[in-house]
Amino acid sequence: MLKRIAHVYYTHQDLDKAHEFLLDFGFTVAEKRPDRIFYKGYGTEPFVYCAIKGDSTEFSGTAFVVETLDDLELASKTLPGATDVHDMDAPGGGKRVTFRDPVDGFPFHLVHGQTAVPHGQDQPELEYNYPLRKNRAVNKTQRFQHGPAPVHKLGHFGCCVTDFAEAYAFYTARFNFKASDLVYDGASGRDITAFLHLDRGKEQVDHHCFFFFEGPKYHVHHSSYEVHDFDTQGLGHQWLRDKGYESVWGLGRHVLGSQIFDYWWDPSRFMMEHYSRRPHRSFTNRSTGR
Ligand SMILES: [Fe+2]
Repeated sequence: MLKRIAHVYYTHQDLDKAHEFLLDFGFTVAEKRPDRIFYKGYGTEPFVYCAIKGDSTEFSGTAFVVETLDDLELASKTLPGATDVHDMDAPGGGKRVTFRDPVDGFPFHLVHGQTAVPHGQDQPELEYNYPLRKNRAVNKTQRFQHGPAPVHKLGHFGCCVTDFAEAYAFYTARFNFKASDLVYDGASGRDITAFLHLDRGKEQVDHHCFFFFEGPKYHVHHSSYEVHDFDTQGLGHQWLRDKGYESVWGLGRHVLGSQIFDYWWDPSRFMMEHYSRRPHRSFTNRSTGR
């Protein structure tokens, strides 16, 4: 049983350049070592992004928290290519198992027992005025600071898989991943994209924490990080633009998921997203968006 998405690992050939971008993107450093840097948001995860220095540039997998140590033991014994349960050498400690995606072989991590960190200071909730409804007190101003959009947490990641049906069968059978939306392809008469949430019963969860779509070659598509609100996102967009980074798409509003998105290329050509205002969901059997 998965509880939540926790962190991602990316391997970069040029760690210094990646580091500069990740600070401009809104992370703070949790721990810096010669060969890797752990970054955190202002949520309770001890880290949400680990940048590893390597000979090649590659996505090195996402980690999800499992409910119990027994889950981790079971994963180690039954999932494809799974490692033993081992101690994590990372901020927050804990234990981890890594298995391989059965279709495309990419690494997928499961963790348990990390020590949470205190939640950082959230930013103020703004009062918005509308043409016919004024929520802000008369003469009350709003002032903002130019700078990176502080990241709260990792929200989701997604990739291109070479066999959608097989990947969908595996992840929905072996884990509590459930589709929030499926995209149907009329030409081939089958689903080709899935946005998956974690079924946690009545607990509120994000619309999706994992998505995949079918294509000719496996690759990570992007990972996405929550920021406080649209103003924060806009300021972060301007900051990245002023620093000369390359925008991919955004700001805009998604239909599937309803979040406000903003996609950027990092210096290693990985796509990174800021998002805000995603709806939560808590019911388990909603019909799909087909
Ligand atoms: Fe996204």
